[in-house]
Amino acid sequence: MRVWNNKNGIYQIYPRSFYDSSGNGVGDIRGIIEKLDYIKGEVDSLGIDAIWLSPFFLSPMRDFGYDVADYRQVDPLFGTLADFDELIREAHAREIAVMIDFIPNHTSTEHPWFKQALADPSSDRRAYYVFRDAAPGGGPPNNWKSVFGGSAWEYDGESGQYYLHTFLPEQADLDWTNPVVQHEMAEVAHFWFRRGVDGLRIDAVRWLAKDPLFRDDTPRKTENETNEYETVEHDRSRGGENLEEYLSVLTSAARQYDDRLIIFEYHIDPRMPYEAQAVRMYNVSPQYAAPFNFDGIFVPFSARQLGETIKRYQLLVPKESRAFYCFSNHDEPRLASRVGERQARAMAVLQLTLPGTPVIYYGQELGMKNVVVPEELAQDPVKGAGNRDGERTPMQWSGERLAGFTTANQPWLPVAPDFEQYSVASEENDTHSSLSLYKTLLRLRKDEPALAPDALFSIDLITDALFAFTRTSDAGTLCIVINFSDAHVHYEFKRAGSCIVSAQGNTYEETSGEISIEPFDAIVFRVQQF
Ligand code: NOJ
Repeated sequence: MRVWNNKNGIYQIYPRSFYDSSGNGVGDIRGIIEKLDYIKGEVDSLGIDAIWLSPFFLSPMRDFGYDVADYRQVDPLFGTLADFDELIREAHAREIAVMIDFIPNHTSTEHPWFKQALADPSSDRRAYYVFRDAAPGGGPPNNWKSVFGGSAWEYDGESGQYYLHTFLPEQADLDWTNPVVQHEMAEVAHFWFRRGVDGLRIDAVRWLAKDPLFRDDTPRKTENETNEYETVEHDRSRGGENLEEYLSVLTSAARQYDDRLIIFEYHIDPRMPYEAQAVRMYNVSPQYAAPFNFDGIFVPFSARQLGETIKRYQLLVPKESRAFYCFSNHDEPRLASRVGERQARAMAVLQLTLPGTPVIYYGQELGMKNVVVPEELAQDPVKGAGNRDGERTPMQWSGERLAGFTTANQPWLPVAPDFEQYSVASEENDTHSSLSLYKTLLRLRKDEPALAPDALFSIDLITDALFAFTRTSDAGTLCIVINFSDAHVHYEFKRAGSCIVSAQGNTYEETSGEISIEPFDAIVFRVQQF
């Protein structure tokens, strides 16, 4: 990939939860500026080259910023455009690239475009959205479901029509078949690129292109299905054939600047061929855009399953591009809660030694876990099983009051009860902490040509317990062996060498031949040069 050549990682910041500089209980842009040195710039920083900010745009916050009321404004809760410009300057001074969330599928119903579309059905704005008449017998135009529950159609009593909302009723879908919408969104991309933004993370990519005839989704056999969204195949409501064309509106904007990158939030549909979907995303613009790889989230903690899926993925990544391995984010339970604490350390070794660019969710490096948020404090509009509050709680900076996140009486979501143990301050001074492991691995990624994003990757072994692979550059070879089991497992090294990192802090003697890998350990082994 020509752009972003040397970026060794992307750190996802959820602005509400990173650092509150204003004392109102919600994180903000100045808070991010204050904490940039944690990411890069000091000897002791993590040493990550890029940040991605979840939405900070003007919004009624029904979906915490994924409901945008003005794409060109910073919500006052987070600060001002001047603060954002300063963030760009400060980040760039530390050679940190800044990537922002970009939400093209829908706007807030508070957006002036939508307000006008409702107020005056004959205005041009009406065609920015997807308004349709009721079905012939009455009721919603078709059977499409909202990801967040219920029908994807909301009735507008004034005009007697329905509008489409793939997510909340307060998030109205834009109509990407309308060239004016395409132009508007390209202009928004230019607005941020001109301000110095280095990349866009594109939200909800699959839904941009729908069936132009608005036919029903195919019903599924639904025995035992409790999630209404999963009662239909999403064969008509998403992934339509014009998707590439719409995405290229955004990649074309990126291409007009130096060194910009676009990453698609595209979830592979397990019911459709895996390779074809990933390749489809890479083919939009291999040098400028790539999909996230979410296998570290959705594939079970298993040597065989993860090994096979990574093998398949690396084969399909085009030469000009690379993988973006994302192991946790603001929509899914935290890594350490999903797989377990020791297992999460093994996953850190995996993520940070794979080719491509790792995407690290704030607090992942501390081993932060999901917090059980009592119902009366819940914030996420998604209730029940899919609730996402638990993975969005405040960053744990120190053992001080409220983890040093805010001086307010109460943060917007509660702080984890175990924050004293899992905080930056306590882990910084502990060589065995998760934070120290991440720092070691990130440093290694920087220093070792064999761990460069494009250095060779070759799979050595996949068994029920072990996944082993090598990374090679002209300067040498590293062998990474991950034991996914809770037992000792033997591994036969073909060449002599020494262990330079152990996920669980174990020591292994100078090695040649067979060694016994400790439970859930993941080791980086430097192969001796002849
Ligand atoms: C995906 C985002 O990651 C999620 O947080 C949001 O709710 C939906 N898209 C809708 O924008």
